[in-house]
Amino acid sequence: MRVEIRSFREEDLEGILRIERLSFRDPWPRTFFSYISRKAPDLFLVAEEEGAVLGYVIGEVREVMLSGLPHRLKMGHIVNIAVAPERRRSGIGSMLMLEVERRFRERKATRSTLEVRESNSAARSFYKNLGYEETGRVRAYYLDEDAIIMTKNLA
Ligand SMILES: CC(C)(COP(=O)(O)OP(=O)(O)OC[C@H]1O[C@@H](n2cnc3c(N)ncnc32)[C@H](O)[C@@H]1OP(=O)(O)O)[C@@H](O)C(=O)NCCC(=O)NCCS
Repeated sequence: MRVEIRSFREEDLEGILRIERLSFRDPWPRTFFSYISRKAPDLFLVAEEEGAVLGYVIGEVREVMLSGLPHRLKMGHIVNIAVAPERRRSGIGSMLMLEVERRFRERKATRSTLEVRESNSAARSFYKNLGYEETGRVRAYYLDEDAIIMTKNLA
């Protein structure tokens, strides 16, 4: 297996939508992925093997605001990640996360953070395995469920 992690390309979109629909009960629409790919293409990463999309991660870097003023502190945020069901548990998700975290560090982000459904025990274990800690909860973050906030120090 020769899996490559690289930035998103337009031709990845169909493969991404297939994985998104297989992975989430409330999948993002095509327009959302197109929007993100224009807004922050270098933090939208794809795992590819011989032309086939196996997974993707979308990150963003936010500058922390205090009283409405930008602060020096920058945080990486994992917006979305999924791996094709038939290729899970082979390290692809971890490869995607490590590369997006590397790109967060390049942009001087000192922490990485994400929200995960409370019931998504697979993803919670996945993130813990990568060094994320559960640091909070947002009530009713999803229409039907709370989110657990997980955070990792990137220093
Ligand atoms: C979460 C997800 C991206 C993980 O991708 P993956 O490529 O399967 O993950 P990896 O193979 O890199 O897993 C690394 C480690 O994470 C943990 N892990 C991953 N999946 C797990 C599961 N289903 N149950 C328990 N632990 C799991 C294990 O420690 C695993 O190591 P191991 O396989 O040696 O035991 C994938 O399960 C997925 O696409 N889920 C559906 C979408 C989703 O829930 N996204 C997260 C939204 S917040």
